[in-house]
Amino acid sequence: MTKYEKLFEPVTFSNGVKAQNRFMLAPMCDDSAENGQVTEQQLEYMKTRAANVGIAVTGYAYVNDSGDQVPGQLSVAHDKDINGLAKLATVMKAGGAKAILQLSHAGCGAGGSVAKGYRVYAPSKLSFPWLDYDVDEMTTADIEQVIRDYAQATKRAIAAGFDGIEIHNCNHDLLQQFFSASANHRNDEWGGSREKRMALPLAIQRAVKKVIAESGNANFILGWRISPQEKHGDEIGYDVDDMFAQTKKVAELGIDYLNISLNLSADYSNSVRPSYDVKVKGTDKSFPEYYRAALRGYCPIYIGSNVLTADDALAAVTDAEGVYVGRELLMDPDFVQKIAEDRPEEIVNTTTIEKLKAVGLPDGFVDNYADKDGSTRVVSYRNGIPLPGLD
Ligand SMILES: Cc1cc2nc3c(=O)[nH]c(=O)nc-3n(C[C@H](O)[C@H](O)[C@H](O)COP(=O)(O)O)c2cc1C
Repeated sequence: MTKYEKLFEPVTFSNGVKAQNRFMLAPMCDDSAENGQVTEQQLEYMKTRAANVGIAVTGYAYVNDSGDQVPGQLSVAHDKDINGLAKLATVMKAGGAKAILQLSHAGCGAGGSVAKGYRVYAPSKLSFPWLDYDVDEMTTADIEQVIRDYAQATKRAIAAGFDGIEIHNCNHDLLQQFFSASANHRNDEWGGSREKRMALPLAIQRAVKKVIAESGNANFILGWRISPQEKHGDEIGYDVDDMFAQTKKVAELGIDYLNISLNLSADYSNSVRPSYDVKVKGTDKSFPEYYRAALRGYCPIYIGSNVLTADDALAAVTDAEGVYVGRELLMDPDFVQKIAEDRPEEIVNTTTIEKLKAVGLPDGFVDNYADKDGSTRVVSYRNGIPLPGLD
């Protein structure tokens, strides 16, 4: 019995399926797929990172060819992707973790699609200064197609043997763009009021739930990831109350866990303090305490960000059922094992490019996230440098 015993209790999802402990490998795109296909390097990496967690989530996989954010991202847009994804699911499950495929569409941020010559679209015609390509306003037919694409992607995840999917309703992807008053200027059934701006995420949820129900696999897990708030200086895309309202609707339809991404906004992130410790603005409640009221009945909540030590992880599960761990697991693949064996002082939480290569990080991670000066941007929160591309 160690001080960290609580981290090794199972987490029960809403559908009754259990994760073997409270750790989640946070979804992290490793920029290392080849034309969307899983590579050997990714399989090797996943084998070690998923080995000891309760639930392992892949980096975001694009559901159609217009939704690819970065070169090296995984694809779940075609049937030909299933074979590679099946290998990925197999290595992710080898140590007992539940293997989850994260589904996404980058909307206006689909730079990877631009590079391949695909059309890029978003709820409205957007021309942000940082976009050097045209973004079309989606037609009704585009919207209906995207909903079908999420359904198809879910079928592929099931065929590949994943234990579940997680919908990437966060980090500025297409679903968030629809919910954001800054990005969505439509006046039809898909935009305008808050209710209408949440219509696309909810339609996608309905579509993927239908596929899951029709598969007959009652154990298939539906996870849902949110960014609680979107702000651009003084301009508000949506506020915490808006996302709370959306989550209430989502919970009514039914999800198996809620993953609250806490790294993104100035109001609740902090470059030195673990983000889980931050209260929802204007309240004395932590994010899990606050969000619990939005959930219908029992649904486990995962939080995290800036979790570097065993004590950070333990503190996160005072309010939440589970804790996601991203960059720390990049640096130290044995993070969970060391806590399980009561060796927390052996956890590695500084790194260098050489060390990252030595712990089997795929090239894309090292090339795009490691600071060329010697330390690395994967530990940037200690140095106050924001994560690239994540707001
Ligand atoms: C290299 C990298 C890639 C990421 N890719 C994704 C992604 O594909 N989907 C997602 O939801 N979050 C993504 N994130 C965010 C992480 O899931 C996590 O929220 C963030 O890294 C903060 O947690 P940490 O401090 O434990 O790393 C990414 C983060 C990093 C560092």
